[in-house]
Amino acid sequence: MFNHIQPSVPDPIMSLMEAYMQDSHPQKVNLGIGLYYDHQGNIPLMRAVHLAEQRLLEQQRPHSYPPIEGSALFAQQIQALLFGDAIQSHQHMVTVQTVGGSGALKLGADFLCHYLSRREIWVSDPTWANHWAIFEGAGLKVNTYPYFDDASGELRFEAMLNTLSSLPEGAVVLLHPCCHNPTGTDLSQPQWRAVLEVLQQRRLLPFFDIAYQGFGDGLAEDSFILREILKTDLDFLVSNSFSKNVALYGQRLGGLSVCCNSLETAANVKGALKTLIRRSYSCPPTHGSQIVETLLADEYLRQLWVSELTNMRQRIKQMRVSLSAGLEQGGSTLDYRRIRDQKGMFSYTGLNEHQLSQLRHQYSIYLVAPGRMCLPGLNQHNVDYVTAAILDVTLP
Ligand code: LMR
Repeated sequence: MFNHIQPSVPDPIMSLMEAYMQDSHPQKVNLGIGLYYDHQGNIPLMRAVHLAEQRLLEQQRPHSYPPIEGSALFAQQIQALLFGDAIQSHQHMVTVQTVGGSGALKLGADFLCHYLSRREIWVSDPTWANHWAIFEGAGLKVNTYPYFDDASGELRFEAMLNTLSSLPEGAVVLLHPCCHNPTGTDLSQPQWRAVLEVLQQRRLLPFFDIAYQGFGDGLAEDSFILREILKTDLDFLVSNSFSKNVALYGQRLGGLSVCCNSLETAANVKGALKTLIRRSYSCPPTHGSQIVETLLADEYLRQLWVSELTNMRQRIKQMRVSLSAGLEQGGSTLDYRRIRDQKGMFSYTGLNEHQLSQLRHQYSIYLVAPGRMCLPGLNQHNVDYVTAAILDVTLP
C-alpha cells in the first residue's frame, strides 16, 4: 500500500540540528537553527517563565479543553504586544492561539486559500525555507520579490518597491516586521513608510510574520510597521511566535491576528478560523499559553521578562561585535561589518557552501546554507574558535 512513497527531502534546518546533536566533537558549535543559547551555551529557562510555571503548579488547575481559538485574555495580550496601546480603541482585530508561529502561518495560508480564494503569495528573496514549504503545502504558488543582494550585503529596496508596485490588487505579500530571517537585514522606519504607501496604493494584502519580536531593537521598536499599518484602513494578517522571545520553543505557542474593517466581518473571520482549527487539530494546547498569560498579566513578571529579553538581545549584539572584530583583526576577506550590523538572531554571512562544508566537517561548526549564522550559538568560550575557523576557511 505504501511502497510507492519516495524518500523525502529532509528539512534543511531541522536535519542540521539532528546532525549537530549526533556530532561528538568536543568543540562543536551550533550556529544553525534559530535557538537562543545563553553565555554558557545552554537554552535558557527564563526566570519569569519559571516563576509563572510555579504559580500555575500551585493553582493546581485541571487540564480542561480551552476554547477553539484559545483564551480571550491571551488574545488581548498578543494584540497589546504587537500593537501597543492603540489596539484598545480598535475593535476589528481577531486573534487566535496557534501551534507556534508555523501553525499561524499554516492557518493563515489555509484561510487565504479557502476563504479568500487566493492561489499565490509573494515572499522576500530570500526568505525562511519553511515559508516556501508551508505556503506551497497549503496550495499557494510562491513568488518572490527582491529583498537582499548577497554579493553587496545590501537591501534591494528600490527593486522590492518596484515589484510590490507591480502586483495585482489584493495580492498577498509576506513581510518580516523585524529580524529578517535569514538575512538579518531589516527595513528602516522611512523604508517601512514607503512600503506602506505602496501597500495602500495597490490595495495589497500584507501577511506579517513576526517570530523574533524583541530581538532587534526592542518589543515596541520591532513592531513599528504593525503599529503604523493599524492607523490605515488596510486589512492584514499577522503571525507571531513565543518560541524565541519567551524561549518556549517546545510549547509551540503563537498567534494569528487578522485585522478586519468591521465588527461583523471580524466575527465571521473568527468563525472561519475556528472552523479551520477545529477540523485540523480541534483546539490548542494550554500549558504554554497559561505561562505567557500569567507572565504578562503580572507587572513584576512582565518586567522581569522584558529585562531578560533585553539581556538576550544585548548578548547577541556583543557576540556580533566580538566576531566581526576578530575577523577584522585577522584580515578577513569576509564582509564582517554585516555580522556586526545585521539584526536579530541571524546574519547572512556571505560564506559559500564550500566554506560551510569545511566549517562543518573540519571544525564541527554548523551554519544553515547558504551562509546563515545564528549568532546566539556564540559565547565567550567559543567565539575565538569560530573566528579562527572562519579565517581558516576564507583566507586565500
Ligand atoms: C529557524 O529559522 O531556524 C527557526 O525559525 C526554527 C525553524 O523552525 O526553522
